[in-house]
Parts: sequence; structure tokens; C-alpha cells
Amino acid sequence: MMKDDIKKVLLSEEELRTRVAELGAQLSCDYEGKNLLMVSVLKGSVVFMADLMRAISQPAEIDFMVVSSYGSGVKSSGVVKIVKDLDINLEGKDILIVEDILDSGMTLDYIKGMLLDRNPASIRICTLLDKPARRKADLQADYVGFTVPDEFVVGYGLDYDERYRNLPYIGILKPEVYSV
Ligand code: IMP
Ligand code: MG
Repeated sequence: MMKDDIKKVLLSEEELRTRVAELGAQLSCDYEGKNLLMVSVLKGSVVFMADLMRAISQPAEIDFMVVSSYGSGVKSSGVVKIVKDLDINLEGKDILIVEDILDSGMTLDYIKGMLLDRNPASIRICTLLDKPARRKADLQADYVGFTVPDEFVVGYGLDYDERYRNLPYIGILKPEVYSV
């Protein structure tokens, strides 16, 4: 069972639900009268995106992009490849990049720069989790769900080697799962 590989539940379903509702309320205020386009970076942010978009009461468009920066390991390579680009023209849009976790920040720094070149009206980052201890890029999120310690976490979209994404909560993976 998946839960046998979890050392500790870091964020329960209830905690996630409450915080996502708060973020949604905040975003609903901040994006009133704007052209909100939520951009999700697949696949890790898919669960957060699905919950967050429904917590926002303003009209919002959504789009998805796929980049690869991680392979199956646990450390960011810093190399970002665009596997699938956005479909929507960004001109005049208020972009909200929705991410699962801001770790080194290398991936998001690259994506933000690339999207800025397309003349959006604004661009902000909303990350569910922030792991500031590991930041390498000079980048901050505008909206943060939770600040987390420097441990490898899975669930609620986050994976280790494509597993555990469907856990409904966020847990710390037992080190022996990835250090063997
Ligand atoms: P960054 O470029 O180092 O910020 O990497 C960000 C990406 O790395 C995230 O979107 C995740 O896919 C992955 N990642 C970073 N830390 C974790 C973690 O603790 N668990 C699962 N994935 C992680
Ligand atoms: Mg990701």
C-alpha cells in the first residue's frame, strides 16, 4: 500500500482543503475585473489546479504546459525542456502560474521568463508548497499555500518516480524508498 512508504503525514486532506479555500478567496479579490489565465505546469500541479480553480469565484481561463526538469530522481537538474507549450495567446492576460512546489526555483524561473516575453498584462506565481531552504534561483512566489521543510514530499499531485500522485494528502516519503 502507498501509505506504508509514508514516514509522516505533513498536510492532511482537511488542512489542504482549508488552505486552498483561503487562497481561492484571496485570488478572487485580487483578480476581480482582470483577465485571469491560470497556467498549470503538469503534472505535479494538476490536483492543486483542479481544487484551486473551483475555489475562485471570478472567471478564469486555464491552460497547461509540460516541461521536464527532473527525470525520475529527487534533485533538480536545472535543465528545462518545453515538452508541451501553452495553446492560449498570452497578450493582455493576467497569468497566474499554478505550481505544486517551489524548490530550487530553476524550473519556474525559466518558465516565468519565457512567458513574460509574450506580453501578458501581469504574471504571478501561486505555489502550494514552498521549500525555501533549497532555493537557487532569485525567485519568490506571490501566493504560497504552505512553507515546508527540506524533505521529499509526495501526494496531492506530487510524485516520486511517477508514484504517489493520487494520495489525497501530502506526506514525507520514507528515505529508504528513494535511497535504495
Ligand atoms: P525546482 O526547479 O527545483 O523548483 O523543481 C520544481 C519541481 O521539482 C516541482 O514542480 C516538482 O515536480 C519537483 N519537486 C521538487 N521537490 C519535490 C518534492 O519534495 N517532492 C516531489 N517533487 C518535488
Ligand atoms: Mg512539477
